[in-house]
Amino acid sequence: MQKKVAIVGNGNLAYHLAKRFWELGHPISGLVVRSEAKAVPFKPFLNDETVITSASNLANHPWDLILIAVADSAISSMIQQTIFPKSAIVIHASGSQPMSVFHATGIQNFGVVYPLQTFSKQKDFSFSEVPLFVEANNRATEEQLLNFSKILSPKVALLSSDKRLRLHMAAVMACNFSNALYAIAEDQLSAAGLDFELLRPLMEETVQKAVTIGPKQAQTGPATRGDSEIITKHLNLLHQSPEIKEVYQLLTNLIANRSKKN
Ligand SMILES: NC(=O)c1ccc[n+]([C@@H]2O[C@H](COP(=O)([O-])OP(=O)(O)OC[C@H]3O[C@@H](n4cnc5c(N)ncnc54)[C@H](OP(=O)(O)O)[C@@H]3O)[C@@H](O)[C@H]2O)c1
Repeated sequence: MQKKVAIVGNGNLAYHLAKRFWELGHPISGLVVRSEAKAVPFKPFLNDETVITSASNLANHPWDLILIAVADSAISSMIQQTIFPKSAIVIHASGSQPMSVFHATGIQNFGVVYPLQTFSKQKDFSFSEVPLFVEANNRATEEQLLNFSKILSPKVALLSSDKRLRLHMAAVMACNFSNALYAIAEDQLSAAGLDFELLRPLMEETVQKAVTIGPKQAQTGPATRGDSEIITKHLNLLHQSPEIKEVYQLLTNLIANRSKKN
């Protein structure tokens, strides 16, 4: 890969991207962070030529592609406050922010590469399994972003901002919401002195079944069967956790109503 890539940000995605480029034998050329101390965990994935900077004027760096990996709420102001090299393609990686955040910024070539995966610095995974969704403001940039993305992962597709937002919402439901329920389940088990690991085969089979026969077909449990006796017993166990009890009741109603329709 000939392109000089820089990353803005030092969070979870920035970390895994820097690591991926290093694994590909092409360490990033620039890392833009708010303070240089934040670059320390990235050092194993950088080389002597990598520029680490906290400057907002990046105009003189010879970077071809600048990937903004900062918090969604900071993307727009970060773009407004930064001077980018004229010839660079500037992209963000957010599922929820439209490509139009780049409008009226003076940046000529811009786009989005959204990786549909959950990234945490503490957990390794195979980047080649990550689907990447690309959008660009012109044909030539689109072509370059598709080629760039295929270096990171073979699973690359074009997607508009509108569809990306819906995909992101679905991802929040499938990943963030189910993980929050795992955390609640973990608390309930530990209240009884039981290990979260006990749920692993069940959790793995749930995912397998949902993708094999479809989540609607895969739904089981007391709410699907309309078993109010069991539901009452469970709600009684939660009498000291009103918030969790409400979630249990809400999800039970949702499952019961959807089961009636199917
Ligand atoms: N993590 C994922 O699973 C995932 C998946 C797909 C896409 N993405 C996208 O990747 C991007 C980064 O997400 P992340 O999860 O890596 O974030 P993160 O781990 O929460 O890190 C946030 C980063 O944003 C920086 N930041 C926050 N406020 C800022 C501001 N006002 N100005 C400049 N920098 C600021 C932080 O810098 P400081 O440390 O200096 O505060 C930090 O580098 C987001 O657009 C997100 O939607 C993330």
